[in-house]
Amino acid sequence: MEERLLQIQDLHTTFFTREGNVHAVDGVDMEIGAGENVGIVGESGCGKSMTAMSVMGLVKKPGKVDGGKILFDGMSLTDMRPKERRKILGNQISMIFQEPMTSLNPVTTVGKQVKEALCLHNKGLSQKEARERVVRVFEMVGIPDAAKRYGEYPHQLSGGLRQRVMIAMAMVCNPKLMIADEPTTALDVTIEAQILHLMKQLQEEKGTAVMMITHNLGVVAQFCTRLYVMYAGKVMESGTVKEIFKNVCHPYTDGLMKSVPDMESKERLYNIRGMVPSMLHLPKGCRFCPRCQYSGPKCFEEEPKLYEVSPGHFVRCFLFEQQTAQEGEA
Ligand SMILES: Nc1ncnc2c1ncn2[C@@H]1O[C@H](COP(=O)(O)OP(=O)(O)O)[C@@H](O)[C@H]1O
Ligand SMILES: [Mg+2]
Repeated sequence: MEERLLQIQDLHTTFFTREGNVHAVDGVDMEIGAGENVGIVGESGCGKSMTAMSVMGLVKKPGKVDGGKILFDGMSLTDMRPKERRKILGNQISMIFQEPMTSLNPVTTVGKQVKEALCLHNKGLSQKEARERVVRVFEMVGIPDAAKRYGEYPHQLSGGLRQRVMIAMAMVCNPKLMIADEPTTALDVTIEAQILHLMKQLQEEKGTAVMMITHNLGVVAQFCTRLYVMYAGKVMESGTVKEIFKNVCHPYTDGLMKSVPDMESKERLYNIRGMVPSMLHLPKGCRFCPRCQYSGPKCFEEEPKLYEVSPGHFVRCFLFEQQTAQEGEA
C-alpha cells in the first residue's frame, strides 16, 4: 500500500437508544493509502454509512463515536477541535451521498451551490474566478452545456446529472479523500456505469483516494483495488480485490458473491439464508454464525479474531484459525 492517508483504529460508534445501546460500528480497523481505491461492502444495516459518518464527524445524537482513533494525513481527527476539523471536511475529505436530491438545496441553483462549497475553503477567490472554476469542473464531470446548467435548479436536472453535480461539489476543492456512500444505488444501471467510469477517471487523474461504500460486489470488482467486508458492525474479511475474488474465505463474503447475478449461470440466484441480526440482540460468539452453514459449537461461544490467511488477506472466521497457526509454526 502507498503512503497511509486514512487510518481508522478500533473505531466504536454507538447509538444510545431507549431500547438499548446499538453498536453500529464495533471495533473497526481500516486503512486507505494515498490515491487508493477501497471498497466497503456488506448488507444494509451493517455499519458502512456510520463508519463514513464517523470519519466525517457527522454522527448525530443519539449516536456518538465513543472509542478509537481516526487519523488523516498524520492528524488525529478524533482529537481535533470541531472548528479545525471543519476546515478539513469538504476541503481535504469530501463525501458523496446516495440520494443527491436530499443533499442539494432545492431553492439555489446548482452552480451557486458548488461555488459556495469552493469559496468556503478558498477565501481569496474572486466571484468570477470561482464561477469559471465551477463551470470547468461541471465540464470535467461531463455535464453538457455546463455554463447553462450552472444557473439551473436541482429539480431541472435528471438523477444522473444531479449525481454529477454532487461529484463536482465533492471534487471542486481537489480533496485527498473522497467518500462515496452508495453513489450510484439510486441510478439506472446505464447511468451507474457512466458515473463509476467518471469517478474512476477523475480519481486516476487527480490521485484522489476513494472510499467506495456499496452493497454491490460488482461495483467493487469494477472500481476498487482493495476491500473490506462488513457485517453487523465488524470487518469480516479484508484484502485486495484480486485476492478475495480468487480466494474468497469468509462464508459471508462467499454468500455475497453468490448473490451477484451471473449472466452465464442458469441457476436460481443465491440468497444468504436468514437475516441481518437485530443490532440490539447480537448473538454471542461469531455474529454471522446463525446464518452460516459451517458453524460449529465454538462459533456460538467465542468471537473469532481476524486471521491473516495470506499476506494482507484477513478473515474473521474460525475455519481459518488453524491455517494461520500452522503457517506461524512453520
Ligand atoms: N438514528 C439511529 N438510531 C439508532 N440506531 C441507528 C441509527 N442510525 C443507524 N443505526 C444503527 O446503525 C446500524 C448501521 O447503520 P448504517 O451504518 O447506516 O448501515 P449501512 O450503511 O451499512 O446500511 C443500523 O443497523 C442501525 O442499527
Ligand atoms: Mg448506508
